Amino acid sequence: MILENNKSVIFSTQLASDVNALLQGVSSERLFILTDTQTKHHCLPLLQSNGALRNAKVYTMPCGDEHKNIETVVNIWKFLGENGGTRHAILINLGGGVVTDLGGFVANTFKRGIRFINIPTTLLSMVDAAVGGKTGINFNGLKNEIGVIHPAQNVVIYPDFLRSLDTQNILSGYAEMLKHGLLSSHEEIKKLNRFNALLPDYTLLASLITTSVAIKADIVAQDPTEKGIRKALNLGHTIGHAFESYSHATNRPILHGYAVAWGLIGELYLSHKLQGFPQDILIETVRFIKENYGVFAISCDDYPALYQYMAHDKKNTTAGEVNFTLLKDVGNIVPNCIVEKEWIFQALDFYRDSVGI
Ligand code: GLY
Repeated sequence: MILENNKSVIFSTQLASDVNALLQGVSSERLFILTDTQTKHHCLPLLQSNGALRNAKVYTMPCGDEHKNIETVVNIWKFLGENGGTRHAILINLGGGVVTDLGGFVANTFKRGIRFINIPTTLLSMVDAAVGGKTGINFNGLKNEIGVIHPAQNVVIYPDFLRSLDTQNILSGYAEMLKHGLLSSHEEIKKLNRFNALLPDYTLLASLITTSVAIKADIVAQDPTEKGIRKALNLGHTIGHAFESYSHATNRPILHGYAVAWGLIGELYLSHKLQGFPQDILIETVRFIKENYGVFAISCDDYPALYQYMAHDKKNTTAGEVNFTLLKDVGNIVPNCIVEKEWIFQALDFYRDSVGI
């Protein structure tokens, strides 16, 4: 199935045949696959089960965000160059967000840009990282500091990969789906808030993913380079990134999507207080997050440190001001809201009250 509003996104039920169909007429010498040590074992055999992909050259990078760096990029550039990669090579990125972000960056820079296909294997990469053309690496201690925005030729989403994904990683990706629902319609967020994420109905999940990707694709199509409306995709991420960075700095790391889910609690509160976002959806979404994501423990002593992370977020355009995307209502987006420290501390109070700490 092809996504209506972005023909490059394909929902696949027969992975190897569907990808081979995209590569018709391409000789196997031009095909390269990037995996990590996990996807090499769990996903590559299925992808290579028939067609030209069987003879593609495979590069396997180590797993983990700490390898999303220039050294890994250089190693893959070398691999491509030393194995006959030309301007006509195609790189297939098979993995989670690290593989699709880094592989996309490698492809966008090798020989000034070769085609690439993303095959996301986690929920987070299916609904977010793999779609929308953001590619890049971490540099100098900063996440996604170097990169380019240029989309994959195709994104192939094979929801069956999710059947072997653990609950924590399902929930991590699901937080971005909640965000997309909040940017879309009452109907969609209500559906998402009713989903049993702990015992997933995979058929229903696949249909929720289709809508979620369509919502993101629609926003990206309006503003591919994030000059305006694409900033909406930062909902939940200003507070969320602060939680995420603080969790790493204090040696109790949390998954990205968990940070976003908890960030959504604070940012929906600000949306309610400052923009009139409806209280019933606030309460319903907070309940879903509390029931599924548990808590990240903070006290009011942690507020100044969390605020510092927000003040240094790269989305801020003016030093010292914290910039949020807020909502007037579900789907009614208000970008570039500068919010005072007192309100942010109140949002953190609301987060603690909501999760019961
Ligand atoms: N992950 C947010 C975006 O793609 O813009």
